[in-house]
Amino acid sequence: MKLCMIGTGYVGLVSGVCFADLGNDVICVDKDTKKIDQLIKGKVPIYEPGLTELVTKNYKNKRLNFSTNLKKSVKDSDIIFICVGTPTKKHGSSADLSQIYNVAKEISSSINKFKIIITKSTVPLTTGDEIEKILSKKNNKKKFSVVSNPEFLREGEAIRDFIYPDRVVVGSNNKKSNRILKSLYSPLISKGASYLQTSRRAAELIKYASNAFLATKITFINEIANLCEKTGVNVEDISIGMGLDKRIGSRFLRAGPAYGGSCFPKDTKAITSTADKFKSNLSVVKSVIKSNKNRSNLLLNRVYEILGKRIKNKKITFLGVTFKANTDDMRDSSSLLMIPALSKKGAIIKYFDPTGSKKEFSNIKNVYYSKTIKYSLEDSDLVIIHTEWNDFKSINFKNLLKNKKVIIYDMRNIYTPTKIKNQGFKYYSIGR
Ligand code: UGA
Repeated sequence: MKLCMIGTGYVGLVSGVCFADLGNDVICVDKDTKKIDQLIKGKVPIYEPGLTELVTKNYKNKRLNFSTNLKKSVKDSDIIFICVGTPTKKHGSSADLSQIYNVAKEISSSINKFKIIITKSTVPLTTGDEIEKILSKKNNKKKFSVVSNPEFLREGEAIRDFIYPDRVVVGSNNKKSNRILKSLYSPLISKGASYLQTSRRAAELIKYASNAFLATKITFINEIANLCEKTGVNVEDISIGMGLDKRIGSRFLRAGPAYGGSCFPKDTKAITSTADKFKSNLSVVKSVIKSNKNRSNLLLNRVYEILGKRIKNKKITFLGVTFKANTDDMRDSSSLLMIPALSKKGAIIKYFDPTGSKKEFSNIKNVYYSKTIKYSLEDSDLVIIHTEWNDFKSINFKNLLKNKKVIIYDMRNIYTPTKIKNQGFKYYSIGR
């Protein structure tokens, strides 16, 4: 099948490459000429394990191509996936849909034969209805079908999540589209993915409700971790004990820093805003947003306590600064609040991240990037393990830490407390 992906961010690029790998002809379109030039040269602008190799392979075998020409790419394709960003509006908490609607307008003048137009980006309830209205202005309704087919991939696991999804959700009432899309996804269905066909509005809401629920699950266990810290209970026992109940499930019950990234913070805000618009109050999700916002301050206060409230000139190491492991994404990472706050109080901060230095910290006083874990740990008073990269999972602290009075604050519960304490270090973690 001939597919066109509009937008080459996480969703567009990963889905496009994976669809090409499944044997389709895919053209990935972006208005950013520099990005497209780089992609043609095999340079992938995001860090995602396995992605560069798949881009190179499929570009070489000519199943994957890149272009800045949206109109021509749409004309040449049968299925168009809209994969542009839906960030939070500058003022307010609803999603900014200007990129989606601009793309819809451009597509509108390129419908030369029957096209399936799909929103793969996370778009609020009723966005598909609006796109349909835009397209209907210039085109007969028989010439196109607007479908919602949300993507559920995680950064860092994106390729695996695409190839082995738990489910594929397709929201459409159009018989022809349904038949074509089921056939497009048949390689994934035959590997075990559940295929759910719903109304378009339901598909839009499934995506937001899923992200809001996962954010709730994390926030719930984070609050339970706070209670565990006050009562001498190990939160890991609670996660295991709860997770064994099949109705609850064990995943997304890892306590840690505030959840971040490009999805949960944005999508929880957007779903409450949509619900408000329809005069329906999502009070649970609203408290999740509030609790998660407080969490970075709560952990920061814990850092102050650990250091006996004397922060000035303290040397603090951050291992990992992105919002989680296996990504270079800094969006809504809790380090963006913690590092500047500690610098303001006079701390001297060195950080190491497997994905390199971050522009976000380049103008912050006394914040330095270290090229190796070893350098980052030199002379440190406090080591904060902020993300769960494998690189941090078997550090020989005894050999690397010269200052034996150093304190380790493991915000991802990577290490066993007794193991680190037996090496003579003071060790703190989350909820235990
Ligand atoms: C999330 C969803 O997991 C995907 O299904 C969805 O497709 C994606 O958003 C999206 O809407 O595009 P992602 O933001 O890449 O994916 O990252 P997650 O792995 O879900 O992690 C989100 C945040 O929750 C991170 O800060 C992570 O550290 C935190 N988290 C996750 C926990 O604190 N504990 C957990 O048990 C799991």
